[in-house]
Amino acid sequence: MDFKDNINQDKIPRHIAVIMDGNGRWAKQRGQQRIFGHENGVQAVRETVEAAGELGVKNLTFYAFSTENWCRPKSEVDTLMSLLVKAIKNETPELLEKGVRLNAIGDIESLPKECIKELNEAIHITRNNTRLNVYVALSYSSQWEIVNAVKNIAQQVKHNELDPEEIDKSVFQKFLQTNGTPDPDLLIRTSGELRLSNFLLWQIAYSELYFTPVLWPDFRKKHFYQAILDYQRRERRFGKT
Ligand code: FPP
Repeated sequence: MDFKDNINQDKIPRHIAVIMDGNGRWAKQRGQQRIFGHENGVQAVRETVEAAGELGVKNLTFYAFSTENWCRPKSEVDTLMSLLVKAIKNETPELLEKGVRLNAIGDIESLPKECIKELNEAIHITRNNTRLNVYVALSYSSQWEIVNAVKNIAQQVKHNELDPEEIDKSVFQKFLQTNGTPDPDLLIRTSGELRLSNFLLWQIAYSELYFTPVLWPDFRKKHFYQAILDYQRRERRFGKT
């Protein structure tokens, strides 16, 4: 019996967020450049999307590039961006066929033009798909997102479009990048690091956190199933008794 057979179909997380970590270390272990790790990470993304689609997970968010990642050496940033463009280009036909809708969160305007173009095309082509929403977080950080939300709220207040008295949790949420998507039930981080690294901090208020030592390029369907099984064993109380 494999891990998949033990999964309870009635308790499938509606949204799973993934911090893909460990590409650099994976490459280093093989005496290769960091980008070799990122290249091999694409297969892990593919498997995760496939597994999520098969299980009926509705939303999947990948942390692909953080606001802080802009501080990496230019050569790594440039190669990562080209890799993203290539991956989006290569994967779009299959996403389309498998019913996956692609979307992006983050400061998309700050990405290279070619990347924005490919991304927008893929988003447009897959817009009518409903089986699984895949969100790629690019030039994203939670603190950026929250500051951005506050700025937009302030603008609306300034133009008398919003009464400060009306601002509550549900109004605030509407100004976040994830507006319309349920908060993650489960957050997975690979590579053994026990950090959140500025990812979906508002949205994971009540998410279950799952950390695995597996490095991202080694992450396969069975690891995804293990994470879901672990999630299904937990008792979620949302602050109640
Ligand atoms: C973290 O590893 C990984 C990244 C910053 C990039 C992840 C990007 C991909 C796997 C490319 C494909 C993505 C999509 C959505 C098509 P790290 O470099 O921080 O590793 P380290 O902690 O071992 O140094």
